[in-house]
Amino acid sequence: MGAPVPPDSVLVLAGGLSHERDVSLRSGRRVSEALRGTGVEVVERDVDAGLLPALRADRPLCVVPMLHGETGEDGAIREILELLDIPYVGATPAASRAAFDKPVAKTVVTRAGLRTPESVCLPHETFRELGAADVMAALVERLGLPLMVKPARSGSALGCSVVHTAEQLPGAMVHAFAYGAVALLERFVSGTEVALPVIDDGSGPRALPAVAIKPDGGLYDYTARYTAGSTEFEVPAPLSPELSAEVARGAVAAHEALGLRDLSRSDLIIDADGAVWFLEVNVAPGFTETSTVPLSIHAAGLDLGDVVASLVGAAVSRHQDRDRHRDEERHA
Ligand SMILES: Nc1ncnc2c1ncn2[C@@H]1O[C@H](COP(=O)(O)OP(=O)(O)OP(=O)(O)O)[C@@H](O)[C@H]1O
Ligand SMILES: [Mg+2]
Repeated sequence: MGAPVPPDSVLVLAGGLSHERDVSLRSGRRVSEALRGTGVEVVERDVDAGLLPALRADRPLCVVPMLHGETGEDGAIREILELLDIPYVGATPAASRAAFDKPVAKTVVTRAGLRTPESVCLPHETFRELGAADVMAALVERLGLPLMVKPARSGSALGCSVVHTAEQLPGAMVHAFAYGAVALLERFVSGTEVALPVIDDGSGPRALPAVAIKPDGGLYDYTARYTAGSTEFEVPAPLSPELSAEVARGAVAAHEALGLRDLSRSDLIIDADGAVWFLEVNVAPGFTETSTVPLSIHAAGLDLGDVVASLVGAAVSRHQDRDRHRDEERHA
């Protein structure tokens, strides 16, 4: 990492300072190898003080941001790429910001007609100002037990807990607040968890097969995500044709409602009555050996490298179209 970027090469950004640094490095490595397999010249690079000078000195053809968690998915790195006018794969800064903020994303997708678990979103200060015990009692009354506590902005299930008894709630809140100043509490939905990517290489967003997630220990937490063999996946998820179509429609609707581009992954739970609940959408989903997006791409009969190469192609031509449009406006 840190090597000069040859012209016409793709720069895969991975690492960063978020809690998901290790996951990002693994995603970055996998995507880089897959892209190289298609004949594309690829450079992998971390995010550090040398990045901006390097991007100015050797402009890549395109950047693939494989940065998870804050700064990767909250739009910050994309703002920098916009400032430098470098093409990149994925959502704009504004769309990334909205998608990364779970309460905001829930509001947007609800307006688009999706169902998302009832929730309450509270900052740390409210507990201090109003007295934690009273606030927590009201939360349990509203959402019932078990309930789900998560940081409003985070990833890889870090800071997330299932709360089974009122006594467990204070600890779960402290855990969530360790990852951010705002917590999202949700009604717990039990059922089958599925994740599915939406890909748009220029011909419109389309959903790839849903992956059913069955963690051995019942919880899809950080360990269940990144320890090989600790979660069983089934792809395509064993769903009726109607439910398959509904989750596909839901993922595309979330992608469109949030104004996302190129690639996203929606996480959903299907309850015992067959109702589909939207949890969240990721703008830089994981591509590690145990991640769901590569499984879905494979199940669709596609090659990972070809898919990423086509997204790079779409991002480069979008950028060229924008330049052309700006030139025309200047000369009009
Ligand atoms: N309301 C809910 N009911 C039941 N389980 C839930 C609920 N919300 C989240 N979960 C569980 O917690 C996990 C983490 O939640 P979520 O996907 O919202 O967080 P994340 O940290 O952003 O994860 P990711 O790595 O997918 O970005 C989910 O994969 C799911 O297993
Ligand atoms: Mg998730």
